[in-house]
Amino acid sequence: MNFNQSLAQWYRHNRRDLPWRNTTDPYVIWLSEIILQQTRVEQGKPYFYRFAEAYPTVTHFAAATEDEVLKLWQGLGYYSRGRNMLTTARLVQQKFGGVFPGNYDDLIALKGIGEYTAAAISSFSTNQAKAVVDGNVSRVIARYFGIAEPINSTKGKKLFQQMANELLDPAEPGLHNQAMMEFGAMLCRPRNPLCDACPVRTGCYALQHNQVNQLPVKLKTVKIRKRYFNYWLIIDNGEVLLNKRGETDIWASMYDLPLTETAEDKSVEELLASPETLATLGFTPQIKAVYPTQKHILTHQHIYYRFIYIQNNLKIKLKPSWFFLKVENLNNLALPKIIFLFLTKFFEL
Ligand code: ADE
Repeated sequence: MNFNQSLAQWYRHNRRDLPWRNTTDPYVIWLSEIILQQTRVEQGKPYFYRFAEAYPTVTHFAAATEDEVLKLWQGLGYYSRGRNMLTTARLVQQKFGGVFPGNYDDLIALKGIGEYTAAAISSFSTNQAKAVVDGNVSRVIARYFGIAEPINSTKGKKLFQQMANELLDPAEPGLHNQAMMEFGAMLCRPRNPLCDACPVRTGCYALQHNQVNQLPVKLKTVKIRKRYFNYWLIIDNGEVLLNKRGETDIWASMYDLPLTETAEDKSVEELLASPETLATLGFTPQIKAVYPTQKHILTHQHIYYRFIYIQNNLKIKLKPSWFFLKVENLNNLALPKIIFLFLTKFFEL
């Protein structure tokens, strides 16, 4: 058996029964793919069910509000993905009358759908011969064929796409693509791959040359930015002061607390005396409690954040993006995970 035959046979016997694998509806496949670009299968499943139930068709999705979509997306992180889904849904509603396309060219022309997603949707829904390349697929190719070109360089991306195209089984592109991804996720894992159980181990370059842990090669390009978020907890009469975030920056359009960001780590004393605090609050607050600083890791930034509970000062002048909300209504808004966790614990919701 060649690589593709062994892979397909392995997949038929070992595939996980996942809800989006029992459909050819391009809309449902799109939902799953966007969610799975953000998270692992097990964590993604409940989100998939929630979205599919809230919006059974793209027409339902297109009619949603941004707040609703962000609320459903809450916890997945990288919230622009959730917002972009709404843009794409509305575009499909407009351009295709609510019929989600299954054709690669129609899909790739949509804002918000890239090569990977277009290939996944078109091959899974209509068996179009388009090869998907994601981290799983590149890893399998790099190891099996012994490719040391970085998977994330411009040259590497082109090369891996080309190799995936050549490898694609034209008779069953959908199954082949699923099998490549499943194989990468379950056996040819980034760390501790299960080479003993691998159906193509005898032909694997990396295994035969003892390079499984060296391949794939990935360029480290991201520079991590450190940010310091000081969140002010202000409570008045069973209501908490919230802030609606702007359109740019992380957590766009979601809700957090009044925030003083500083470029460096500051002690609480330094913070209180800083111009940044004065610019946020307009006064020097009286502290009720300071909670320990925690670290939140995002792709390109590390956020050091702490919550400072302060006396509600009547002098406080509300900014346009600030408003008081009854604590019991906190659950109705899309909050970044760190804010949600803190407030639900604080208020014992
Ligand atoms: N990751 C991305 N797409 C996937 C799919 N369709 N099944 C399982 N894992 C995936």
